[in-house]
This record gives sequence, structure tokens and C-alpha cells, in this order.
Amino acid sequence: MDEEGKPVYVTDLAAMKRAGRRIVVVTAYDTPSARCAEVAGVDVVLVGDSVGNVVLGHANTLAVTMEAMLHHVGAVARGLKRCLLVADMPFLSYQTDVATAVRNAGRFLQEAGAQAVKLEGGQAFRGQLEAIIAAGIPVMGHLGYTPQSVHAFGSERVRGRSLEEARGLYREAKFLEQVGCFSLVLECVPAELARVVTEAVAIPTIGIGSGPHCDGQVLVLHDLLGWSFGPRFKFVKEYGNVRGAVTGALGEYCREVREGAFPTEEHSFHAREYERLTREELEETG
Ligand code: KIV
Repeated sequence: MDEEGKPVYVTDLAAMKRAGRRIVVVTAYDTPSARCAEVAGVDVVLVGDSVGNVVLGHANTLAVTMEAMLHHVGAVARGLKRCLLVADMPFLSYQTDVATAVRNAGRFLQEAGAQAVKLEGGQAFRGQLEAIIAAGIPVMGHLGYTPQSVHAFGSERVRGRSLEEARGLYREAKFLEQVGCFSLVLECVPAELARVVTEAVAIPTIGIGSGPHCDGQVLVLHDLLGWSFGPRFKFVKEYGNVRGAVTGALGEYCREVREGAFPTEEHSFHAREYERLTREELEETG
């Protein structure tokens, strides 16, 4: 968090890396979550396309559209004043061609209030990355496990376990730095590889499931709150039990409504003009 509560800019992240200050990133999909992230001192809020599997009930991120992302990014933007807001570019919003990629990236800034976009992949999207960055739109890269390639990857989540794959990921990280990305997410990469990449690039690396040596960490908000219902990954630490809190509160509400214990006088309104109202008074025409 910026110590004086000043807005966080993309340029601040490289300065944080140079100063050895760890960068805190979390996902959010709505206004109340964004407000909480900001008050808690988070640096960067990412509206991830993980919204698809985390809160919209899809099996993965592939069903998430530009319109859905714009809807959620707008909601998060309305909850933030200080945190840097990054919008995830969903599946097929940038892969097809350069013009579509620039237009969609720009929509996040113009229509929804994001300050930067994130997209998965490296040299395969050189044209898109160069054009988006040339348009003045800051880009966060994303390597390692890239969820939009779920069907290409199969069941193995950790990327870069073989030396050959590790070399490939290293080359892609250097490319993303050189093309002008302001930071780089490393998802499910062996900790040793994440350390070497982090030391080799000047841009901050943001790890998720990639060990302690990255310049920052990102977790899905619902995972860290204990508010997820999907599979629990090894790299997730639950800092809360929102599932338990919500289920407990709803159970109490069910009980009180059924027992007539809610609502009470405290939750009721009264009218001054009549105290003991009868049906006859209401049926009177006049
Ligand atoms: O969609 C997402 O939430 C992400 C982060 C987990 C990096 O891409």
C-alpha cells in the first residue's frame, strides 16, 4: 500500500520491486469486496476472469465474455479510490486479431474505469501486446498456468517442471519485459524457476502458486476468505471462514423466521394516523 494513501500507479510497482517492498494483489468482482480490499491496504485489485468459475458457476474461465467483464470491472471501479485496478482480458477478446485486442483493452479503461489490463501468453501475441501498449494501455503479463488454455494443458497444473519448459518460460518472461509489460503474473511455476525469473527481469513478478521469491503475491479473494466451493489448491491459504460465517448466519435467520423471533418491534414501522387498524376502516370508501 502506498504509505500516504495515495493512488497506486503502474509505475509505482517497479519502484516497489526496486525498494524490496512486496506487492499485494487480490481479485475482486464487486463493489463491497473492492471497498474491503482498499481499506485492508491491498495495492492492486485484479478483476480476474476467474469470476466465471468463482462466482458465476462455470467450470472454467472460458465462458466469460467482454460484457460480463465490463459489468464486474465497473462494479469494482466504483469501490476503489486508491488501489490500482487491472482488468483481465477474457477468452477470445484478444487472441483473434490486433484491432479487436486494442479495442477490447481500451473498453476496460474507457467504459469501466480500469487502469490496466492483463492477458495470458507471450510471443504468440506479440502484435496484440505491442499495439495495446502503444495505445497507452498498461499490460500485466501472465505466464505459467494460464487458465484460458485449460483444454491444451490437460490435468497438470504446474508449468515449467522440465528444464526445457523452464527455459521456454524464462524466454517468454524476458520477452514480456522487453515488449513493455509493467508486471508479470507467474501462476503455478516451481519456486526455483520463479526466483530466477524474478531476479532476471526488472518488472515485478506477481506469484500465485509460485513460491515466496516473487515480488508480489495474488490470490483469488474467495479462496483466501474461505468462500470458495471448488477444489482447494495446495497454494491457497484460507485466512477466513466466510463459508461457515454465511451458512451460520443464514441458518440462524431460517430458525428465527420459522420460530417468529424475527422481525421484532425493533424492525417494524408504525403509522401515526391509526393505531389499532381494522379491516372495516380499510374497506370504508371515502
Ligand atoms: O483470473 C484470475 O483471477 C487470475 C489470477 C488468479 C491471476 O488470472
